Amino acid sequence: EVERAIAEALLRWYETHRRDLPWRRRRDPYAIWIAEVMLQQTRVETVIPYYERFLARFPTLQDLAAAPLEEVLKAWEGLGYYARARHLHEAARRLMEERGGEFPRTLAEWRRLPGVGPYMAAAILSIAFGQDIVALDGNAIRVLARLFAFDQDPRRPAGRRQLQQRAERLLPSGQAGAFNQALMDLGATLCTPKSPRCPECPLRAFCAAYAQGNPEAFPVRAPR
Ligand code: ADE
Repeated sequence: EVERAIAEALLRWYETHRRDLPWRRRRDPYAIWIAEVMLQQTRVETVIPYYERFLARFPTLQDLAAAPLEEVLKAWEGLGYYARARHLHEAARRLMEERGGEFPRTLAEWRRLPGVGPYMAAAILSIAFGQDIVALDGNAIRVLARLFAFDQDPRRPAGRRQLQQRAERLLPSGQAGAFNQALMDLGATLCTPKSPRCPECPLRAFCAAYAQGNPEAFPVRAPR
């Protein structure tokens, strides 16, 4: 059926076009977690050198938890949004003290850690643990809003939930990490906010907004 065809086209594209990013060479939850925290409010290109330095300086959860906060803040210097670094450090200490350094394997447990929201928890569980969970960042939301010519505002909770549900129907079992990151990459490289490069898009044949001739009209913005 069409859901399966969409997922297959997306994953096939990702195999040949995936961006070679440092966190994609790793699978350990610690490394994925650090990447998602840095990427939450900072662009990929900016994050890369900080990410490499941070992991060289704090290679494991144990190292991060044992480090003085000042050193963590220093490694964060230039990335901004320092609450992220404080939360990361606090979460690392809790993981060591309360869980013996064992990372959570459920959304609810991840969400209990400081600085971890719904997107981040889903991203970590799908990418690092291979769990079948959809994680939609801003880029992925734009791709899907266009694919479905989605008529609700995904910035609103109701629209957001609806889009999430429609995404879940596309999710190929056992491949959520690749699926989620493929949507992010598609949004970052082809399905950009302005002038999307539809002729190169693996989902063009399935894209309702493309068929309508107005991909840039999505996601819609509800007046508020
Ligand atoms: N933005 C947030 N998480 C990302 C990831 N895993 N890959 C690329 N961009 C991202």
